[in-house]
Amino acid sequence: MPATRSQPKEMLPVGRKPTIQHVVEELAASGLREVLLISGQGKRAIEDHLDRDAAQNEEEHQPWMDLSFFHARQSQPRGLADAVAIAEPFAGGQPFVVALGDSIILTRSQKPVLQRMVEVHESRRPAATIAVEEVPRDAVGRYGIVAPKGAAGHVFPIRGFVEKPSPSKAPSNLAAAGRYVLEPAVFDAIRRTKPGVRGELWLTDALRLLLKEGREILCVRLRKGEHRLDIGTFLSYYQAFVELSLADAEHGAAMRSWLRKRIGREGRSK
Ligand code: G1P
Repeated sequence: MPATRSQPKEMLPVGRKPTIQHVVEELAASGLREVLLISGQGKRAIEDHLDRDAAQNEEEHQPWMDLSFFHARQSQPRGLADAVAIAEPFAGGQPFVVALGDSIILTRSQKPVLQRMVEVHESRRPAATIAVEEVPRDAVGRYGIVAPKGAAGHVFPIRGFVEKPSPSKAPSNLAAAGRYVLEPAVFDAIRRTKPGVRGELWLTDALRLLLKEGREILCVRLRKGEHRLDIGTFLSYYQAFVELSLADAEHGAAMRSWLRKRIGREGRSK
């Protein structure tokens, strides 16, 4: 507050576009065709923004404009697993992708992490494939943290998954980065999951249930040059905006030299 009083945080611009547009561009680049947007308050702003006809009148045609969008509402914020449960009829018994609308994956990689995840998932068919990123030890309490089974390479299986652990209890510093490929078995697991941290229903807890029942869960690590930009706190939002402004094709170089001068000026006045 007050930035998101009358609009969802997914509509906050990062660089030239709202967060949600970065996310749907990533979905299109990863080969997805149909997107169900599950949102709470302020849903209309998202729907209006992704209106294909309006977008095509204002911008050049882009691949995300070929996506088919469907909309559903989670009226109470009861947790990520509660939101995912709404997608059961949409998934139609097939594996599906979950992408959190408040996380942008910045990538310089030819193949976005989500596309690599879909490939891994299709060839090995685990119960879930999760994108993970290393985070500082003192930040583990904000994320779902995985316990790798053996050495954690680029793709690796896990033996545990815990939501928002304290740094002393965290099994690693590899955090779920807001992208999942899931088998429909997760819906049944969600029905059997009890509310966890903060009384919410967490996807992490549903996935841990599947692990306990002997199902395999794989992780795909974000590569060098790939970062998750988070708009969830003011500091991370400022950082996300600066990152994308530096990557701006037209103004990136000017922004970089302005920032250097701006920070140099601060150094000199101390
Ligand atoms: C959610 C997930 C968490 C994940 C995080 C990434 O948490 O529950 O496992 O690491 O997104 O953004 P939230 O940000 O909703 O608290």
